[in-house]
Amino acid sequence: MSEWKIICRVDDIPVLGARRVTRTKGMDVAVFRNDQDEVFAVLDRCPHKGGPLSQGIVFGTSVACPLHNWNIDLKDGCVREPDVGCTQKFSVKVEDGSVHLMPEELATLALEFVPPTAGPKTVQPA
Ligand code: FES
Repeated sequence: MSEWKIICRVDDIPVLGARRVTRTKGMDVAVFRNDQDEVFAVLDRCPHKGGPLSQGIVFGTSVACPLHNWNIDLKDGCVREPDVGCTQKFSVKVEDGSVHLMPEELATLALEFVPPTAGPKTVQPA
């Protein structure tokens, strides 16, 4: 059985932007909102050279990495052709305007990547 945890309100995420969810271990998870109020969550790490995807620009169901402009599909975390690679996708549920993530995924997925040692933090799980 899946367990969900409320992370924030959809309105807490800027349209065409992202907030970051910190984890006890591993890198932050970036939670994105597009112009249709769809919400997506992927590891805040570009599969190219580790750029912070949470600082990219959202368009449609993709985000453009702020470092070298690779386009990552937020539905599956994979880079659009001609580039190749994927970042970890996390399950998201939006219910009554609240964004939910799965604590089990936050605690277990993509822990092999080391968090950056500098940079601002934003969203903390409630
Ligand atoms: S680090 Fe994201 S495109 Fe290079």
